[in-house]
Amino acid sequence: MAKKKNKNGNNAGGLENGHLIDLRDVHKVYKTDAGDFPALKDIDLKINAGEFAAVIGKSGSGKSTLINMITGIDRPSQGEVFIDGTPIHLFNEGQMARWRGRNMGIVFQFFQLLPTLSVVENVMLPMDFCRMFTPRERYERAMHLLELVDVAEHAHKLPTAVSGGQQQRVAIARAMANDPPIIVADEPTGNLDSRTSEAVYALFEELVEQGKTILMVTHDDDMAQRVSRTIILADGEIVNEYLVRAMPSLTPEQLVSASNKIECQTFAPGEPIILQDAEPDKFYIVTKGEVDIFLSHHDGHETYVDTMGVGQYFGEMALLSDSNRTATVRASRTSEVEVAVLDKAVFNELMSQSEVTHEEIRREAARRSESQERARNGDR
Ligand SMILES: Nc1ncnc2c1ncn2[C@@H]1O[C@H](COP(=O)(O)OP(=O)(O)OP(=O)(O)O)[C@@H](O)[C@H]1O
Ligand SMILES: [Mg+2]
Repeated sequence: MAKKKNKNGNNAGGLENGHLIDLRDVHKVYKTDAGDFPALKDIDLKINAGEFAAVIGKSGSGKSTLINMITGIDRPSQGEVFIDGTPIHLFNEGQMARWRGRNMGIVFQFFQLLPTLSVVENVMLPMDFCRMFTPRERYERAMHLLELVDVAEHAHKLPTAVSGGQQQRVAIARAMANDPPIIVADEPTGNLDSRTSEAVYALFEELVEQGKTILMVTHDDDMAQRVSRTIILADGEIVNEYLVRAMPSLTPEQLVSASNKIECQTFAPGEPIILQDAEPDKFYIVTKGEVDIFLSHHDGHETYVDTMGVGQYFGEMALLSDSNRTATVRASRTSEVEVAVLDKAVFNELMSQSEVTHEEIRREAARRSESQERARNGDR
């Protein structure tokens, strides 16, 4: 997966060898009159500095709850939340507010600008609160940020006197006021028309280019395609994003259930993953690096067929036709390979549960079978 590179590394605030955002075994249970409701279950999530991540999932899947764990607006019932190495789940309220003011820019769906303050005063507020910059600098910086988001001409109006799109851009300027390394946005364009949404996304892309890390809840599929990482939630659990890429037609329930059964394996450069003629027992999705596919011949020589990269799957042909492996698959010589592995039984179960997925994978297998045939013939 192509990761966005920072132009400005020192702004990213990441750890040398760690993750900027690191949730470990996070659970969130809401206590309600009807009993305990588990909104997040066993969340392990790591986000690197400079990533632009979209959080997607159906209404009620736990997106806002997850975001609130990361901003410290709410706390996990169990588990740990490290931001840039800081265990924020251990903070008291005062520590949390001070830390958040300096480290997190938060953009809400409904802007949440203070109605009695002017636009520029709203943007100055986080700087005042955290005593960042001198008072004069605060005003200048706020005006500069408003220029960046193209609403400087409205600086001295009250929020209610500007449009929804303009209010949201003010909210983004406010989120950037203290130059936080992380910006978290919960459906920032939920109330905007598509043209204004586009402007907000473009601004986020620019901020990522400048080295910010952005985590954004969105319902917009087009946007989810444009980010460097998609985090998919279903029923309070994270679904394996590579499984979604391989089998996009599965239901959330099927994705959650299969995600929990995925095993991750690593192979050294050149190491075999599948051997031709062996009995098939697994289905693989490449999650890092590349694999090469070869046809082995009786005299020992091999014909190269294809290379599969991140997000592509292999091992489906023999599983679908219930025959032995038709080719050998090895980790590429140049790099280590990581794969997500599904057992034959789980794979077969998914195929029987989702006719559309079965058909999509069957079609791909047929295409590959032809290309193996061509490679075999070409080599004669
Ligand atoms: N304070 C609360 N008390 C009890 N249950 C809650 C509370 N907040 C959220 N929930 C429940 O937890 C689940 C997850 O809620 P959350 O707001 O995180 O979902 P979401 O994915 O953000 O949904 P949406 O797309 O509608 O914003 C929902 O079933 C919701 O009803
Ligand atoms: Mg929500």
